[in-house]
Amino acid sequence: MRHLLSTAQLDRDTAIELLDIAETMADVADREVKKLPTLRGKTVVNLFYEDSTRTRISFEAAAKRLSADVINFSAKGSSVSKGESLKDTAQTLQAMDADAVVIRHSASGAPQVLADSNWISAGIVNAGDGTHEHPTQALLDAFTMRRRLHGSASRGRDLDGVQVTIVGDILHSRVARSNLWLLTTLGASVTFVGPATLMPVGVDSWPATVSYDLDDTLRNNPPDVLMMLRIQSERMNAAFFPNEREYSRQWGLGDERLAALGPDSIVMHPGPMNRGLEISAAAADSPQSTVREQVANGVSVRMAVLYLLLSGEREVRL
Ligand code: CP
Repeated sequence: MRHLLSTAQLDRDTAIELLDIAETMADVADREVKKLPTLRGKTVVNLFYEDSTRTRISFEAAAKRLSADVINFSAKGSSVSKGESLKDTAQTLQAMDADAVVIRHSASGAPQVLADSNWISAGIVNAGDGTHEHPTQALLDAFTMRRRLHGSASRGRDLDGVQVTIVGDILHSRVARSNLWLLTTLGASVTFVGPATLMPVGVDSWPATVSYDLDDTLRNNPPDVLMMLRIQSERMNAAFFPNEREYSRQWGLGDERLAALGPDSIVMHPGPMNRGLEISAAAADSPQSTVREQVANGVSVRMAVLYLLLSGEREVRL
């Protein structure tokens, strides 16, 4: 694997191998010295054209735990504001001998453009491109589900038979797309629920069940995993913003819906959350919520991705 651009590129065995390497990386996080020398001498560049808290910080932590050097580039405050192109920025990174470029961009396909170009020879990791994909978020979500559902027997397991319901702004969600490809590869069933105005055109041809009634779905197809999404207002024309009170009533996870979930079902959110809109504070902080675990697991999963891309090895020696 030279680049990670989409979860659609992962077959079942490779996805499980990545999750298993992430398990080993999580063991490193439990040690007193949370570092491996594996990527000493390698340079990882975080190239962020869009804002991020979790993804950027956890890629930085992951690279540092593997002893790589890390360069953080934020388009804000850079020469991008003077009109510098992606090509010239990439060639600047090439001149600095970057081994991996972790890119977040508002344009769907920007990581693919870099990977297909001869501007830079580094491995490219998609850290979220427009409404297209966010593969490491899906991997950390799958890792979190596997750990919650299979516990200490997670290694080597897929998600066969697991029912995952993803609720909200599916139209603009790269997380929903990456999760759909990965989760179905791992044997899970996915249901998208949300307003018709926030469903992608052509969703009926995707390998997901589509519903426009959250209460009906929770009653008749109870999920093992309920994943709530935020409304991505930054990608919408203001004229199309839903009414927040109405949205929350129809699509939000409030205390009543939380109480109606099965006791073993889990509540996920990729963040950032709008508490009180798509998820209540009680739901976000409930024992069923995995929000903080998802963030912690993100470091282990991103260590696994950087390790697989840059070490050229498939076995992790601790
Ligand atoms: N989940 C996620 O991508 O969060 P950030 O935008 O904070 O990186």
